Amino acid sequence: AKDTIKQILKKTESLGSKITIQAWVRTKRDTKDLVFIALNDGSCMSNLQVIADKSVISEDVLHSLTTGASCTVSGLLVESPAKEQALELQALSVELLGECPSDYPLQKKRHSFEFLREIGHLRTRTNTFSAVARIRNALTMAVHSFFQEQEFFNVHTPIITASDAEGAGEMFQVTTLPFETFNSSEGIDYSRDFFGKKASLTVSGQLSAETYATALGRVYTFGPTFRAENSNTSRHLAEFWMIEPEMSFCDINGNMDMAEDFLKYVLNYVLENCKEDMEFFNKFIQKGIINDLQEVINSSFIRISYTKAIEDLQSSSVKFEYPVSWGIDLASEHEKYLTEEVYHGPVIITDYPKDIKAFYMKMNDDGKTVRAMDVLVPRLGEIIGGSERENRYDVLLQRIKDLGLEPEDYWWYLDLRKYGSVPHAGFGLGFERLIQYVTGMTNIRDVIPYARSARNCDF
Ligand code: 4AD
Ligand code: MG
Repeated sequence: AKDTIKQILKKTESLGSKITIQAWVRTKRDTKDLVFIALNDGSCMSNLQVIADKSVISEDVLHSLTTGASCTVSGLLVESPAKEQALELQALSVELLGECPSDYPLQKKRHSFEFLREIGHLRTRTNTFSAVARIRNALTMAVHSFFQEQEFFNVHTPIITASDAEGAGEMFQVTTLPFETFNSSEGIDYSRDFFGKKASLTVSGQLSAETYATALGRVYTFGPTFRAENSNTSRHLAEFWMIEPEMSFCDINGNMDMAEDFLKYVLNYVLENCKEDMEFFNKFIQKGIINDLQEVINSSFIRISYTKAIEDLQSSSVKFEYPVSWGIDLASEHEKYLTEEVYHGPVIITDYPKDIKAFYMKMNDDGKTVRAMDVLVPRLGEIIGGSERENRYDVLLQRIKDLGLEPEDYWWYLDLRKYGSVPHAGFGLGFERLIQYVTGMTNIRDVIPYARSARNCDF
């Protein structure tokens, strides 16, 4: 196998050896006798600097080696006189693979993220978006290695499902009906059109993960989830990826410990394994982020109740857009205030009012609050949502009824509380919010390859 630029730049022992590299031109500059070409193959942020004597490149090829063109270069690796790099490639031959005409939108200048969103099929070729893609890849590995080291089992939960895992009615419907029938409503029950039944895209793998947790002990899912909420914000997508561990014989405290350990592990993994890309984000996207994340890894997360959080907000002199009183759902301005102004770091908030949380959360003895735990972080607000689960059959059934949900839809979920019910808990981490947190990217549409939101599903 051919070495990538990343591999080549790492090996100083390859000095003097002959190599062949295939990559894209980032920039080209020429003097009377020499051509300087910066090549990038996506393996890392760094370019490989190529120096070619004009005698080894034909006029035609030289002319066509414009930004974005692809080529094969063979040559000798030599020590570089420039201080930014240790090695450069002295070309012996340069072959053009694919030219790139001058209407290529990614010429060497800065483009706004708004503009780049419109060319989602090309933006990954920029430094920022290729770095985001490499960080996303590293975080995927970090997630799996954390849970595998802890001996959790990975479970693939379904994407098409009948049950509303959050009970919030934010499901996209799935239909087997041909598009044409949408124009005629005669005799068609659109709510039951998945082979005669109703079905939707899943909002969470949690309920299916719970069944596996009651068999395998500790499991996690990592898959796409869908929310038909039309919120046009910098932290919501209609399609996003979620990591959901579920643990039998675990209460809310064990759940918080796991969430904290998990976050610290994945942050540390990226700082260790993505140094070059993280330097980029540190310098150009969110100044000082490496240091901030390091501090989070070394800190203990503050844990407070929802009631305390409300008191903190009420005793503040800030005029919030959404007024604060016990019972409200925290808005992002409140979450920002708590993490940035009061506690200066991640905060875990527990014991939310039952009326603003999902049916499956375990009821506290006060009858008013449930054993929820959200992890909030500076810049973003909620990054993790979780809870201890209601493991008492009667209480769960009553909650389902009280919330106007259909017990028949949850018959199998109720069975878990009938046969060998155990205390159990879990949480969900929004993968894109994690990537935002790690990179400092402010818009969630810029950390997923193809953002699905109210206005965008072209690419
Ligand atoms: O708080 P949520 O809705 O919790 C659940 O789905 C539970 N079933 C999780 C569990 O206990 N297993 O979502 C969990 C996380 C949020 O904290 C947030 O990070 C992310 O998923 N999230 C979104 N990310 C992007 N776009 C959206 N529309 C999101 N909605 C939630
Ligand atoms: Mg939540």
